[in-house]
Parts: sequence; structure tokens; C-alpha cells
Amino acid sequence: MGKIVIVTGASSGLGKAVAREFRRNGCTVVALCRTEPEPETADRFFSVDLTDARARSRAVEAILAEYGRVDVLVNNAGIGSYATWRELTAEDLRREVELDFLAPVALTRELLDALIATGGSVINISSAAAFVPVACMGAYNAVKAALRMFSITLQMEEPRIHVLNVCPGRIDTGFSSRALGGRKPPETPGRTASNAGVFARRLYRAWRRRRRELVYPRWYVPVFWFVRAFPGINEAVNRRIWKL
Ligand SMILES: NC(=O)c1ccc[n+]([C@@H]2O[C@H](COP(=O)([O-])OP(=O)(O)OC[C@H]3O[C@@H](n4cnc5c(N)ncnc54)[C@H](OP(=O)(O)O)[C@@H]3O)[C@@H](O)[C@H]2O)c1
Repeated sequence: MGKIVIVTGASSGLGKAVAREFRRNGCTVVALCRTEPEPETADRFFSVDLTDARARSRAVEAILAEYGRVDVLVNNAGIGSYATWRELTAEDLRREVELDFLAPVALTRELLDALIATGGSVINISSAAAFVPVACMGAYNAVKAALRMFSITLQMEEPRIHVLNVCPGRIDTGFSSRALGGRKPPETPGRTASNAGVFARRLYRAWRRRRRELVYPRWYVPVFWFVRAFPGINEAVNRRIWKL
């Protein structure tokens, strides 16, 4: 049966690629999302709106009853928004906080004993936006930074599990078309988005090596130091890109 790996949001994009990578390496993948994933993506699917606490708990109970163990939880499901803080509606802010932060924290807490029992891993899909701030995505920057801090502090408190925080940069998925808010993301000519399959292989390797953090692609690391050193330049570039 291999290791039991739960992947949230495995029906598309990064979650789909990550689920397939774990399966390709002999793991049993359980998908939690609303749309049924393609058959080669997961061994088992629970239709769950992750912002619904009862549905989430029912799925956790069913997984533990069926498999008796969990080795890896990949908190991947998430949504972005394109709006300034002034424009963002309270409803969109709530949806983003619930799905991108409260749901992964709640799911992790429910599975913590099971993960401790197997010496398992929590893999949180944060974002490069957690440390390279982008205008008109302020709420997204904030929830992904919160998720990253959740990863770091959880690892401090729970040494019997392994926590991997993952910060992807832009990767072509349905993310932009599904995002909340009224703005369209600007075209950034010359920049090509990365590939979800390559990302999934890097994530799998980082998990095998029990690394604490993966930034993909790596060039976001020097960008991070640059925007910290020269915040005014980052502000000016963002205002220009977003026509603010
Ligand atoms: N693509 C990028 O450039 C990028 C960069 C950095 C970080 N990320 C992060 O990577 C993660 C995956 O994003 P993606 O690019 O793969 O986006 P995506 O293609 O839009 O996939 C989002 C996934 O989340 C699931 N989902 C959404 N709302 C849900 C809900 N209420 N309950 C359960 N599942 C829900 C969706 O499944 P259903 O609709 O079937 O429920 C879908 O499988 C997100 O956390 C995102 O913030 C993406």
C-alpha cells in the first residue's frame, strides 16, 4: 500500500502534479477537494469543501477508519485574489483566510496525533508571495506568510513530525482564472511560468530529504534579499506593473 498521503486540492494544478508524483513513487494518495480528480491522480477521493469544518472532520474520520494511518498531509488547496486592500470585499477576504490559512491549520490539528504516530510529514504550500510582496495581492501575501509561520512554529513545537514549507513562484495552473477580486493580473513579458511537473519532483525530493523549506524556482531567494534591502524599488516596480 505504501505511505498514505493526503493531498488537498488534487483535482488541478500543483495538487494534481504533487499527487501524481507521490503515486508514481509507490504511495497511496487520498485526494480532498470538491471536484473528482482524474483516475491516475489519486487512489481515493473524498468530496470535501475544506472550509466546511464538519465535512473536513468527517473525511478525517473516514480516512483513519479506512487506512488506520497517515504518513503525509499536503495542505495545497488555496485561492488568490487580485485587488487592492481598498477594493477587496470583506467576503473575498474571509474566503481567502478560511481556505488558505484556517482550513490547513484545522486539518493539520485534526491529523496531528496520527502524524506523530507515524513520524509523518506536513507539507504546506505557501508561496514566494510570503516573502516577496506583490501589490494587489496583499491578502494573499498575508495568508501565505501566516501559513509559512505556521509551518515554522509547528516544527519547533512538534519535533516528532517533519514540516516542509513550500514557496512556489509563478507556475502555470488554473490559479489566475479562479482568483477572487476584480483585477486581471498584468502581463509580464519575458517571464515564463514554471512547470508543475518539475515543481512536483523538486517537492518530492525535498520531502525525502526532510528539508524544512523549498523555494521554487531558487532565484526567488536573491529577489527576497533585494526587496528587503530596497523596498522603495519594489514599491515603484509594483505601482508601475499594476498601474496604481
Ligand atoms: N500556481 C502558482 O503560480 C502558485 C504559486 C504559489 C503558490 N501557489 C499555491 O499552490 C496551491 C495550488 O494552487 P494551483 O496553482 O494549483 O491552483 P488551482 O489550479 O486553482 O488549484 C486549486 C485547488 O484547490 C482546490 N480548492 C479550491 N477551493 C477549495 C475548497 N473550498 N475546498 C476544497 N478544495 C478547494 C481546487 O479543487 P476543487 O475546485 O475541485 O475543490 C483545486 O484542486 C495554492 O495554495 C496556491 O496558493 C500557486
